[in-house]
Amino acid sequence: MSHRLEQLRDEALCEIESASDEQALETTRVKYLGRSGSISSWGEQMKTLPKEEKPVIGKLLNEVRNAVTAAIETRNAQFRSQKESGALAKIDISLPGTPHEIGALHPLTQMWERSIEIFRRMGFALADGPDIEDEWHCFDALNTPPEHPARSEQDTFYLPDGRLLRTHTSTVQIRTMESTPPPIRVIAPGAAYRNEEIDATHAAQFHQIEGLYVDENVSVADLKGALEFFVRELFGSDTAVQFRPHFFPFTEPSLEVYVKSKALKGGEQWIEVAGSGIVHPAVFEQVNKARGDKAYDPEKWSGYAFGLGMDRLAMILFDIPDLRLFAQNDLRFLKQFA
Ligand code: DAH
Repeated sequence: MSHRLEQLRDEALCEIESASDEQALETTRVKYLGRSGSISSWGEQMKTLPKEEKPVIGKLLNEVRNAVTAAIETRNAQFRSQKESGALAKIDISLPGTPHEIGALHPLTQMWERSIEIFRRMGFALADGPDIEDEWHCFDALNTPPEHPARSEQDTFYLPDGRLLRTHTSTVQIRTMESTPPPIRVIAPGAAYRNEEIDATHAAQFHQIEGLYVDENVSVADLKGALEFFVRELFGSDTAVQFRPHFFPFTEPSLEVYVKSKALKGGEQWIEVAGSGIVHPAVFEQVNKARGDKAYDPEKWSGYAFGLGMDRLAMILFDIPDLRLFAQNDLRFLKQFA
């Protein structure tokens, strides 16, 4: 009995070993292990065996079934790996790959990131506001009267519904104060738009970082300290800074910020980098009206604000002669800042 089983096993293993492909192996599998295969039919014969033989033969039958199943699996795995290495052999792994160019940040983005990082160290949080604004946030709230030239259709892009593309990021001062009571210390990087004749130093879209600090007893000294620290971190500690009196409707006094540094055009020229000043009490009053409270009481709170021209800063820092290069997407230009 057991001899016949062993014979059957050897036969099966031999056939499995010599199967030439997956199909032949499958035929062999069915022949031995299929429902009416010769190993399976032994299960039937078991029933007719004398009681004492059953456990011995049963055990052997299991061993035979397991051995044959394992051999089929092994042979199948051989076929599979042969197929894979056959496919691989068709690939020439010595061919050079397709190179992926690594991107880099746009010089304006780099400028922004450097600036934001410096202001963060001074405790400024980021604030944001929409590019499409209403006249109130862009002008009225910033103490800019209806007859101001910036409000004319020649200078500002108006939408048919009366809204406009913000002409400066100072709008975010108003939006931040509307939603947050003092004290606040924020910067707002973003785009601004003006209907300019486009040339090497003028664009219809440009970029600013707005700053606003409101607290008790904020003075021009605080403003000067913060902006001097900023430009020296950016352009080097030998940078000279000048504050020149100016006029902005939303600050009083108002100051323009000029810098001179060896790093910039050989240190020959004073270069204007920002407008700034002490927030006008009329701006606080407008904000209070919109908020419906007295959170920005001009008797209690004071603040400074500034607007830095990012395009201009990037142009002088990276020695870029023409503003239009920023928007042309020319890789020969952009790669120089990678
Ligand atoms: N918004 C002004 C501009 O675009 C710049 C400016 C001036 C911003 C004075 C300020 C400020 O916050 O205090 O020309």
